[in-house]
Amino acid sequence: MERYLGLPVRLLLALICVLAMVTSKGECVVVVAVENSLGSLCKTFPEDIIFPEGFPSKNATSVGVCLLVKPELTQSDSHSYIASFRTTHVLVNVGITSSITLWLEVNTERHHLNDSLKAEAWNMLCMGLSAAHDTPTPIPEEEHPHSKAYEMWASLQGVTLDVSLGANITAWEEDVWVCVGTRTSWNASFTGFVTGVTLRIGERELTPDNCSLLLDANQLTMPLSESWKTRGPVFALEEDLLQPCDTPMFTLVLREAWGYDKALRWCRSLGGHFPIEKEVTASLVISNCTSEEHLSWTTDASEIAGSYEATCPVLLAGGGVGRRPCLSELECSLCLVPFGLRYTLFGPRTDFNRHYRLSEGQDGSFFFQGTTSNITLSAAGWTLQSSLHRGKLHLNGSWGVMGRRDWRSVYNPQASNILTFTVCNAIQFASNDGVCLRRSERCDGYVQAPDKSDEKECGSRRLLRMDESYDSSVMPFISVEGARYIYYRLSVNVVKKIDAEEDSATLELAMTLKWEDGRVRFVDSKIFYNYFPCHLIWTPTIMMSAGNINGPSVQPAANITMCYFFKGFKDREEVQLDDHLMGESCAEIGWVGRKGVKVLVGVRLEGIALSRGRYVTRANISQSRNFLASYPCMLRVSRYPFGRYMCKLTFVTMHHKVHWKSKDTNVNPHTIKYDGDHDLLDYRLENITLHVHDRVLTLTLHLIGQPDYHLISNFLPSALMFFICYSSFYFPIAEFSGRMNVSLTSLVVLLAFFSQATNSYVKTPYYKLIDVWYVLLLLLCCLVVIANGIVNSLRVQRVTAHSNLAKKVLRAKRLNNGCKIVMPILFGLLVFVFVLFATDTI
Ligand SMILES: *[C@@H]1O[C@H](CO)[C@@H](O)[C@H](O)[C@H]1NC(C)=O
Ligand SMILES: *[C@@H]1O[C@H](CO)[C@@H](O)[C@H](O)[C@H]1NC(C)=O
Ligand SMILES: *[C@@H]1O[C@H](CO)[C@@H](O)[C@H](O)[C@H]1NC(C)=O
Ligand SMILES: *[C@@H]1O[C@H](CO)[C@@H](O)[C@H](O)[C@H]1NC(C)=O
Ligand SMILES: *[C@@H]1O[C@H](CO)[C@@H](O)[C@H](O)[C@H]1NC(C)=O
Ligand SMILES: *[C@@H]1O[C@H](CO)[C@@H](O)[C@H](O)[C@H]1NC(C)=O
Ligand SMILES: *[C@@H]1O[C@H](CO)[C@@H](O)[C@H](O)[C@H]1NC(C)=O
Ligand SMILES: *[C@@H]1O[C@H](CO)[C@@H](O)[C@H](O)[C@H]1NC(C)=O
Ligand SMILES: *[C@@H]1O[C@H](CO)[C@@H](O)[C@H](O)[C@H]1NC(C)=O
Ligand SMILES: *[C@@H]1O[C@H](CO)[C@@H](O)[C@H](O)[C@H]1NC(C)=O
Ligand SMILES: *[C@@H]1O[C@H](CO)[C@@H](O)[C@H](O)[C@H]1NC(C)=O
Repeated sequence: MERYLGLPVRLLLALICVLAMVTSKGECVVVVAVENSLGSLCKTFPEDIIFPEGFPSKNATSVGVCLLVKPELTQSDSHSYIASFRTTHVLVNVGITSSITLWLEVNTERHHLNDSLKAEAWNMLCMGLSAAHDTPTPIPEEEHPHSKAYEMWASLQGVTLDVSLGANITAWEEDVWVCVGTRTSWNASFTGFVTGVTLRIGERELTPDNCSLLLDANQLTMPLSESWKTRGPVFALEEDLLQPCDTPMFTLVLREAWGYDKALRWCRSLGGHFPIEKEVTASLVISNCTSEEHLSWTTDASEIAGSYEATCPVLLAGGGVGRRPCLSELECSLCLVPFGLRYTLFGPRTDFNRHYRLSEGQDGSFFFQGTTSNITLSAAGWTLQSSLHRGKLHLNGSWGVMGRRDWRSVYNPQASNILTFTVCNAIQFASNDGVCLRRSERCDGYVQAPDKSDEKECGSRRLLRMDESYDSSVMPFISVEGARYIYYRLSVNVVKKIDAEEDSATLELAMTLKWEDGRVRFVDSKIFYNYFPCHLIWTPTIMMSAGNINGPSVQPAANITMCYFFKGFKDREEVQLDDHLMGESCAEIGWVGRKGVKVLVGVRLEGIALSRGRYVTRANISQSRNFLASYPCMLRVSRYPFGRYMCKLTFVTMHHKVHWKSKDTNVNPHTIKYDGDHDLLDYRLENITLHVHDRVLTLTLHLIGQPDYHLISNFLPSALMFFICYSSFYFPIAEFSGRMNVSLTSLVVLLAFFSQATNSYVKTPYYKLIDVWYVLLLLLCCLVVIANGIVNSLRVQRVTAHSNLAKKVLRAKRLNNGCKIVMPILFGLLVFVFVLFATDTI
């Protein structure tokens, strides 16, 4: 049951169909709407379901697809696909051009036909392949073993078309893909409706002579079964199709003196068209409404009225076609309207029926009949009334009932009721004078409607709908316990150079936050991004601090904030019947009993007591913030210029029990991809991680000291200096002043290095590894000086006995040699311990 509840549109439209069944004895048929060129619907038929054993055989030589297609009058692409079927060996496509003429394609060979589909009417279209019955020259065995020649066939409204395409197929051992619309993302789908999709197998052309058969075998179900893979804006709905292939027509007489253009618009707003010569039957001439010789305008799109000189085609009362100026006004004109069209009333009046059908009165007049309401024309104009109450709405003038009108109450003429009465279908929008446009054309920045009304009342004021009581300081999170999440995505665009002396990091960050706000509805939202000003709604407050939560607070600079609502293809919308602009509001279905979030309201709809879900919308709102954050890293660089450091920035939501949650990953902490320069002057950036814990989000820069430069500029020269110092041990012991000179000079140079280093690198109140290095090296050098002094003092020691002289020299030499060995050991020990510190081993 749950699955069915999640489908608002389906339910609503199903209801409409139930109602339609009440009003007329129609049958409900599942129809798929392809809203624009990105939509498509595909299904795989497993091989064992389609092909009988040993296909092609005597009584099964042909395979094909039939469907009923209702294309929109305007198609967005020059070549769009209606349907295709494919196995590994062959791909068959059928499509239409922008002027709705057919083309066919087998593999890559395309063939254009002169036949065109009827726009906004059901067309029975079949296409397939059949084994060529008498192949004159069998295909050479060695080239294509078992390959057989197939010819393509196609039919429109049961009439076979002349196609000269074919393919050679080795075997039918594959599953068959059947697609409505394009199979690939780079080609375009047609815009319109499809039903009666069937895969057929048999002999020769498999065109049924009666299209009701297609509806019986329709592969589309409500809801669409799992085996259909939808892509883009495609949705299923239910309609009552009486006789889709041969729809009877009402002949309406438009009794006003109008020029071609205005009369055409009036006729089209009723969902009809001018009669063409072929359609002029006896019955048409009987409904002859004029004493003039010109009976009616007729359709011929070759010339459309512009200047006063332009002429347009007319039907003559006596038969045949003539021409007269398009601007000249005819006494009356005829309009053929398919039987069974559904007219809908949009607007804030709930006391009248929403749906009507066209009915013919006596004397050739017509009116609109709902289950309890009707819309009739009298001498004073159009009247909307109901049999349930005395409320009556009135329109002056005898035409112009279609479209967006200001209906006045008969009893209270001051009150204005803007209602839209239209024949437009689920993927259309009605302009003010009732012309149907594609929904995507509304508010797209281009004026398309003849009355230029499709770009009116657009923009963020209309986009965003909320109750009067909306308070932007109140949090939107409705659920009492659990899920109160702010979804985040954080990306680091630039990490500026970090100077160890300044100890501050500067990051350019892009943060996208997403949260649910059940109180906001979106009307007429576009696919993808819908921007609006952030101050209109509640937005999360986020504090930034350096280090941990208690660190110094960080103020962002260069602050760009945008709020938007992102709509994907899957977010089907609910058409708002009480919005005269026919808006759709993006809604998440709710149903009573699910955590008490939703309300169910019983509505008396169309005279039948039916319960209808009233939805609380749960739209996801996004906010993207781009800002520059400068903050102190507060690093303790005691291992400078070595070591690993972490420079942290913390984000805290200032809302009780609202938690961070990642949009993309559950790994905690996770690494952020950073493509910029990892060399940050004094440090190298190893990686950037994000750690989430409840309300706290921590961004950490993992830094490593960059000792390379210091190795050359500090460690190597100082070590060399020490070696020079040490080399004094190798001077003759008698050369005291020489030894002293060398070691002392080295000591002085080391001191100079040290003071230079402490002046030019990070100043800290504590010792850094580099300071320790110098100090120890100085100490060693001092030891060398002292050792030299001791060696000399031993050498020049006053002796009493001659035998002691040799002993004295020997002792001095021994000490010198001892130093020669001990000093390198000490130095090695120093380097060893130092390396251990530098590599973080201890
Ligand atoms: C073809 O003929 C065989 C037997 O003659 C029969 O079993 C089969 O159902 C037929 N198939 C079709 C598609 O008519
Ligand atoms: C299609 O129309 C073109 C030009 O209008 C014509 O030359 C051609 O013969 C027609 N083809 C068919 C098959 O009717
Ligand atoms: C099928 O094979 C025959 C014989 O090789 C060849 O003449 C014909 O052009 C092929 N047809 C297609 C559509 O490839
Ligand atoms: C579909 O796309 C392919 C590749 O871009 C192109 O070659 C082909 O002509 C397209 N088909 C139609 C009908 O435009
Ligand atoms: C088509 O078939 C349906 C039932 O299958 C039948 O009622 C109808 O009369 C048929 N129409 C035509 C034109 O044969
Ligand atoms: C219909 O038109 C014919 C030809 O102009 C005219 O003679 C006839 O009177 C008209 N009939 C009616 C009912 O107006
Ligand atoms: C329209 O409805 C009113 C009130 O129910 C009724 O009096 C009138 O006869 C209806 N008109 C038509 C043409 O059915
Ligand atoms: C519309 O009708 C009302 C009466 O119902 C009348 O007072 C008013 O003048 C009419 N307006 C026009 C523009 O005809
Ligand atoms: C950044 O922008 C937000 C939203 O516009 C605003 O509330 C905040 O005060 C701004 N911060 C700074 C430092 O400009
Ligand atoms: C909002 O976004 C989250 C995360 O992407 C998702 O789980 C949730 O279903 C979305 N809610 C709605 C109403 O789309
Ligand atoms: C990021 O770098 C730190 C420090 O080197 C390391 O501990 C951590 O494992 C790294 N994280 C990832 C995901 O590589």
